[in-house]
Amino acid sequence: MKALGLDHVAIAVKDLDAAIALYRDVLGLELTHIEEVPEQQVRTAIFGHGMGRVELICPTTSTSGVAKFLEKRGEGLHHICIEVDDIEASIAALKAQGAPMIDEVPKIGAGGAKIAFVHPKGLKGVLTELRQGK
Ligand code: CO
Repeated sequence: MKALGLDHVAIAVKDLDAAIALYRDVLGLELTHIEEVPEQQVRTAIFGHGMGRVELICPTTSTSGVAKFLEKRGEGLHHICIEVDDIEASIAALKAQGAPMIDEVPKIGAGGAKIAFVHPKGLKGVLTELRQGK
């Protein structure tokens, strides 16, 4: 089992278009695509390719997890995503350390990758997504 590196960081924003204007037009990051993710009730904008992407996430409903995050903490870093080569082994290793998992069993995320979220309490206060690509 091995972690391969930082796949993406996700930043929660209140106004996706305004945030895109800032990250693309002011900062100069390449906007790769915009995607609606109905299961998570968010719209996302992805910048860059491959490892180290930046993802802006904006809630589409007032009851989504990201909407609650924004209410509580305001805009800011929502999670990081670590690419791993064997997600089941990573989950087992974290659980063996007592890390609470939000997803004990991987879900299918964007592009058909397996993903699972680790509770911030398990990884030094940072909500962390594990991802095993295809
Ligand atoms: Co993510």
